[in-house]
Amino acid sequence: MTDFSSVKGKVVIVTGAADGLGEAIAQCYAENGMRVVVTDINNGKGQQTVEQIKAQGGEASFFKADVSSEQEIKGMIDYAVSTYGRLDGLVNNAGIAAPNRPLHEYSAEEFDRITSVDLKGVFLGMKHGVEAILRSKSSGGFIVNIASLAGILGNSSMGLYTSSKHGVVGLTKSAALDYAPYNITVNAICPGTFRTSIWGQAPEEVIQEFATIISPNGKLGDPREIAHLALFLASDLARYISGAAIPVDAGAGAGKLTPTKWEHPEILQ
Ligand SMILES: NC(=O)c1ccc[n+]([C@@H]2O[C@H](COP(=O)([O-])OP(=O)(O)OC[C@H]3O[C@@H](n4cnc5c(N)ncnc54)[C@H](O)[C@@H]3O)[C@@H](O)[C@H]2O)c1
Repeated sequence: MTDFSSVKGKVVIVTGAADGLGEAIAQCYAENGMRVVVTDINNGKGQQTVEQIKAQGGEASFFKADVSSEQEIKGMIDYAVSTYGRLDGLVNNAGIAAPNRPLHEYSAEEFDRITSVDLKGVFLGMKHGVEAILRSKSSGGFIVNIASLAGILGNSSMGLYTSSKHGVVGLTKSAALDYAPYNITVNAICPGTFRTSIWGQAPEEVIQEFATIISPNGKLGDPREIAHLALFLASDLARYISGAAIPVDAGAGAGKLTPTKWEHPEILQ
């Protein structure tokens, strides 16, 4: 049987863990015995995540931090180390979407706003997180960056988000090489289309239609499917995996989807 018990007791920070993918990762980590620092700009929802984890017997605490602020990132790392005595891992998950429009219609201010969270936030987390993991002499240190399929493929009307996420994949690959000799793995998870609040107020039919167009199986992903990969990457089962940008996307990034007429559709009956 595959054994994930190597993660037990590891101290991990998950950014943007009040909601969506980050919340699912924090819960999955805590269920497997990790000590989790839940961080987010959303105080109320972040506290709720912690309460839910504790109600299920897990260990977690909340620290409010905006990932675009170096001072707050430093505070977050200091909090984890002073509370738990060490740091073993960090999941840079916090991210924001940008409005969809052609590149020339974006302003320089929008560029700064999106980049400061989606790219600079990941850089700051890695910079200060890696330092704390090194100081902790973790034998199973890890960084997981939540990029996107937009970190691997171009997207029309998504120039800002896409460029930030490509940047996250670049940071991941370079840092994997920097820290491979020091027991720290660095990987990116590239989600396809998942059902979270990043969709904002978009009507259900719009979300479903989008899923049918961009997801080969016609479905949105379940956040737990990201959490399971994040758990594997945090475990000793994945110590030889580093510098990878792993899509979780029902195959959306594998290539171009073309309509195919089956000669023997009766196989499905
Ligand atoms: N949902 C998807 O389909 C999808 C697809 C690809 C990539 N992603 C990426 O996954 C990550 C999580 O997305 P999600 O869908 O769970 O989004 P979400 O909106 O459901 O949750 C994001 C969380 O991040 C927090 N946050 C936002 N800005 C922050 C900041 N500056 N500092 C700290 N916390 C902040 C929010 O308060 C929220 O709790 C993001 O990086 C996103 O780009 C999501």
